[in-house]
Amino acid sequence: MNGIELMVDEHKAIKRMLAVVRSACFGVMQGQEINYDDFATMIDFVRGYADAHHHGKEEQLLFNRMVEELGPAAQKLVTHGMLVEHDLGRLHMAELEKALIAVKEGNEEAKLDVIANSISYTHLLTRHIDKEDGVVYPFAERSFTPEVLEAINKDCETFEKERTANGVQAKYIENLVILESKYM
Ligand SMILES: [Fe+2]
Ligand SMILES: [Fe+2]
Repeated sequence: MNGIELMVDEHKAIKRMLAVVRSACFGVMQGQEINYDDFATMIDFVRGYADAHHHGKEEQLLFNRMVEELGPAAQKLVTHGMLVEHDLGRLHMAELEKALIAVKEGNEEAKLDVIANSISYTHLLTRHIDKEDGVVYPFAERSFTPEVLEAINKDCETFEKERTANGVQAKYIENLVILESKYM
């Protein structure tokens, strides 16, 4: 398994969900009732797939090795760039969740915060993914020794096997397809 290629593929699935989120927000903007179950499914995808599954692999298997082995430029790129952006994404999701509760409790104005946090997340992740695909991953691929790349691939394979056994990837992709059929 090529771990970095797998991460690039996961970006494609994440971008598909970003399009769903944008479309759902456009509906809210046009005055449609908020579907709380669908927003909960989007948040669950972001937390379980984009964050725990995908950022989890980046943080535990790839970025850690870049920080340890590739010098100050890589350290800066990862700790001041990628990891900060992962955290900002988590903040947007926490704020989105709060805003959804506020709207549910009758605060119409909080719809602004639903849209703002959702769309800010999509902008953040789009830029983040483009940076990883275009700069961070290629930098890792050309800087690591073949042995380190092989260790990353092996670790990714183990990570994926364990999660496949628990049905993680299948569950999230299935939810993505269901939401696409409603919103795209
Ligand atoms: Fe990332
Ligand atoms: Fe990523």
